[in-house]
Amino acid sequence: MSTTHTNKIDIIKAATSKINEVDFDNLSFGSVFTDHMLECDFKNGEWQKPVIKPYAPFLLDPSARVFHYGQAIFEGMKAYKDESDDVWLFRPDENYKRFNNSAVRMAMPEVPEDVFMNGLNELLKLDEAWIKKGKGNTLYIRPFMIATGEGVIANPSDDYKFMVILSPAKSYYSGEVKVLIAEHFSRAANGGIGAAKAAGNYAAQFYPTSLANAAGFQQVIWTDDATHTKLEEAGTMNVFFRINDTLFTAPTSERILDGITRKSLIDLAKKEGITVEVRPVLVSELVEASKNGTLKEIFGAGTAAVVNPIIGFSYQDVYYELPKTENSYATQLKDKLTNMQHKLTEDTFGWTVKV
Ligand code: COI
Repeated sequence: MSTTHTNKIDIIKAATSKINEVDFDNLSFGSVFTDHMLECDFKNGEWQKPVIKPYAPFLLDPSARVFHYGQAIFEGMKAYKDESDDVWLFRPDENYKRFNNSAVRMAMPEVPEDVFMNGLNELLKLDEAWIKKGKGNTLYIRPFMIATGEGVIANPSDDYKFMVILSPAKSYYSGEVKVLIAEHFSRAANGGIGAAKAAGNYAAQFYPTSLANAAGFQQVIWTDDATHTKLEEAGTMNVFFRINDTLFTAPTSERILDGITRKSLIDLAKKEGITVEVRPVLVSELVEASKNGTLKEIFGAGTAAVVNPIIGFSYQDVYYELPKTENSYATQLKDKLTNMQHKLTEDTFGWTVKV
């Protein structure tokens, strides 16, 4: 191991790399991690010096608040390598902003921009060999923060740990995606934490999603908690609906995550001359459009999922199959987005940022 100290960050390099043990052609999402991780502790009311160190488990007191009250947030980002071996991030400022919005909502301290951005850049430089060239190859970045303070009193913790771990990734879903539209369970409620990327939002979906999985569906599309009539988002992605040639997606709200892929697709679609309507979409509209043949596509959008076509949906025990659409919006928009992310086309929006 070798150690470098700068006044901003300490870097402890791993003695050996695990990279040659990894089969980059057969990656199951989020299961392999790179050689290093970033760690920065919040103690005595301030952020300590960040350190990059070999990826390894760490110890926490059993009474740490994260175990009892779930004070935990995260982000999902990706790094891409272009044909000249330069490494790029996609709209990292948006992830940074959303991370701190989540922190505020969960009564956690905001992470300084320097710790988040400089720490991430240094980590990516160190583990750069893990980012493979070519469309479809990415490095998934998982920044997260947990409450490490001890004691089971139900108050916000005094101490926290911010970390970034990296995982080489291809696609999130390996096969076709069919969804179940929620009739009883909810993902979020007004006044709740639905807009935050809080760990508990995801844990709360596991049980209803496992029921959907057992019935042959990969995901649930959540409906609003009050009436279950409005289509909101799926567990791992925001959702878009194409009826005739118009693209619809729900507005963000206290219940819906402000997805970065979602807002990028809205802008990309508009630039392509596609009419986009951001408004509540009713389950009844979707069922009607499917019955009268005007429903052309449904797709999910997220960092991990990218743009993922949905082949059918079930509602009130009726399954509605989607038609096969030539030159689908999902394919067009995915190509535009991923070509830009891999620097194969010009980024006229200024979204890509070099590491
Ligand atoms: C992402 O797309 O990055 C997410 O955070 C979704 C996650 C459940 C994989």
